[in-house]
Amino acid sequence: MKTKINSKEVGLDLGLLLFKNFLDTDYMHYGLFKDNLEAKITNLPKAQKNYSELLLSKIPKDVKSILEVGCGSGRFAYNLHQKGYEVECVTPQSQLADYAENLLLDKVKVNKSKYEHFKTEKKYDLILFSESFQYIKMKDSIPKSIEFLKPGGFIMIADFFQKDVKGKSALGGGHKFSLWEKTLNESNLKIEFEKDVTDETAPTIDIANQLSKNLAYPIWQLILNGLGSKYPLVLKFLKWKYSQKFNKIEHTYFSGEMNGENFKKYKRYMIYLLNK
Ligand SMILES: C[S@@+](CC[C@H](N)C(=O)[O-])C[C@H]1O[C@@H](n2cnc3c(N)ncnc32)[C@H](O)[C@@H]1O
Repeated sequence: MKTKINSKEVGLDLGLLLFKNFLDTDYMHYGLFKDNLEAKITNLPKAQKNYSELLLSKIPKDVKSILEVGCGSGRFAYNLHQKGYEVECVTPQSQLADYAENLLLDKVKVNKSKYEHFKTEKKYDLILFSESFQYIKMKDSIPKSIEFLKPGGFIMIADFFQKDVKGKSALGGGHKFSLWEKTLNESNLKIEFEKDVTDETAPTIDIANQLSKNLAYPIWQLILNGLGSKYPLVLKFLKWKYSQKFNKIEHTYFSGEMNGENFKKYKRYMIYLLNK
């Protein structure tokens, strides 16, 4: 059977390769650029540490068991385990999940499944979505999480949402904020903590833009020029056949539109602690 390649998962795998090899970090989430931390790539590990410290500081003190949904490289789950929490992960089968499994070994169980298909009899004190909330339909994630929580348990969500503004963002992703507010209102979950960190997370996108401009674009051009000079007809054919894909790549990554200012215009990054 032909396996369908999930481009979002490939993107996450590439992100991990880049972060691990050049920055010696395997966090997969945005950074929090606070205290005038400059938006440059070498500051990303520090900003990502700020982010994970903020999340850790908001875990209520009676919490013992945590289910992390979408654990990426497993680094955050690893930190949670080191802090003494009983942690379990549920994350789709991918190279990233294999990496997490190797990192977490016998410390944390990694269930390789989409959250939508995950079944368990267990109940947890806290369910964590650190930048995984946007990948799952809210009509699946919220009722399922409520079901998996002990009475009085918590859901922590850190992710960006789409603002209701005119125009189209080069950066995709995120549930519509208005739909989220409606879902939240209807869920009976109580907001224990909420913080808008859009301004502090936006520099992460400026860094992605710098990487696109200074690294990915020159590589892209080298490949196209190389192909064009050796096999001009092949390049012409590919550009014709995959014109939509070419246009999308050029618009999303190389137009300069994917930057911190536009992130603030189109997205809203929120951190929530919700109580059942
Ligand atoms: C941006 S990474 C975040 C990783 C990690 N939580 C962190 O904060 O570093 C998003 C994660 O969500 C996972 N994911 C995507 N779709 C999912 C789904 N349907 N169910 C569970 N996890 C999912 C991805 O595989 C990836 O591990």
